[in-house]
Amino acid sequence: MTPFRLPVRECLVHQVDGVIVVEDGLIRDVGPAADVLPRLPEGTRVDHHPGCLVGPGFIDSHAHYAQTDMIATHGGRLIDWLRDHVYAAEERMAEPAHATAMARRFLSELLRNGTTTALTFATVHRHSVDALFGAASTLDMRVIAGKVLMDRNAPEALRDTVESGYRDSRDLIGAWHGKGRNMYAITPRFAPTSGDEQLAAAGELWREFPDVHVHSHLSENRDEVAWVRELFPERSGYLDVYHHHGLTGRRAVYAHGVHLGEDELRLCHDTGTAIAHCPTSNNFLGSGLFPLHEALDPERPVRVGLGTDVGAGTTFSLPATMGEAYKVAQLRGHSLDPLRSLYLATLGGAVALDIDHYVGTLTPGHEADLVVLDPHATPLLSRRANTAESISELVFALSILGDDRVVRRTYVAGRPVGPDDVSAFGFAPAGRS
Ligand code: GUN
Ligand code: ZN
Repeated sequence: MTPFRLPVRECLVHQVDGVIVVEDGLIRDVGPAADVLPRLPEGTRVDHHPGCLVGPGFIDSHAHYAQTDMIATHGGRLIDWLRDHVYAAEERMAEPAHATAMARRFLSELLRNGTTTALTFATVHRHSVDALFGAASTLDMRVIAGKVLMDRNAPEALRDTVESGYRDSRDLIGAWHGKGRNMYAITPRFAPTSGDEQLAAAGELWREFPDVHVHSHLSENRDEVAWVRELFPERSGYLDVYHHHGLTGRRAVYAHGVHLGEDELRLCHDTGTAIAHCPTSNNFLGSGLFPLHEALDPERPVRVGLGTDVGAGTTFSLPATMGEAYKVAQLRGHSLDPLRSLYLATLGGAVALDIDHYVGTLTPGHEADLVVLDPHATPLLSRRANTAESISELVFALSILGDDRVVRRTYVAGRPVGPDDVSAFGFAPAGRS
């Protein structure tokens, strides 16, 4: 087994008795309690979490909010699963009230799992973006999302056109991008569902608005890769389809990349294009084993984040996703370091999404999105935590045994949003609505 080596940036600073000072939604100070507490003005409110780990909120680098309620749907592999299940769920989003309900459920579920930022698909309907950003604004969450572009190889009810897709996306950028913490992503579903003209229009839109994201799927499943080769015979491979249309670069984030070759990984590195590794989804759909070790090769590292890919993903929990990433790496003959895995779920995800100047660490000046993890949340985890001899071992146990139960509290821009707090933001937590 080849161990992963940890570069300095990925190393964890662990304070046994630490304090994080939050003011106006930002982290102002951080350090050992003995140093920081005496500096606090009298009367400062203190939330105490003894025995817990407090870290930056998790970052979900790829999800589909409209697929929240169809998680755990039995079926075939990618192309069949999309046709048989996903498109029907997305057709229901034509109803604005349904989109609003789904947005609230999705965001509540993220917060219950300690995830404070997600890059997510909406659907082809422009109001699906309004619904999500509206709900995210109520919570003051940093969310990145966009209207799906899809003009072929999909049900009629889910298709747009080159013109309407471009116009709606441009209008939504104007309405939402940079409003509060919302960020827009130009979102062609994947190469099979957009013709050359639509991909070219997406590239043109990105040149007009270069500070937004691009978000799509890439090289997830072998049949899909073969289909793209048939649809775009003049291109050298799947990534070349996007590259040709100007859709590679920093803030371009592609889910999966399971079957990328060395040349494509190098192109990702050279252009700053990021990959969202979605291990629970890849296992659920039988898509394959992402070459994480190769993607992170220090000679030409690719920006990689961890994604749940809900609803193909089987959990909203980033700790559980870290656990699955470990198993996928094992199947490829590599032992994924638990601290590197934690990095991918936090700061590494922020780097992949190019938002590490806002979130992903507890460094002063960053936004105070925090998660409080309880290593004693379940009897088995608690017993294992008691024998852990290092923070690395404890993080690993949390990733293998943990799920939403380990999240004691989540803070968004410094505000607590635990199960008892979410209603303060105007809608009920998941499971109670
Ligand atoms: N490829 C294109 N659309 C989708 C989707 O909704 N889920 C997954 N996992 N892959 C896709
Ligand atoms: Zn996806």
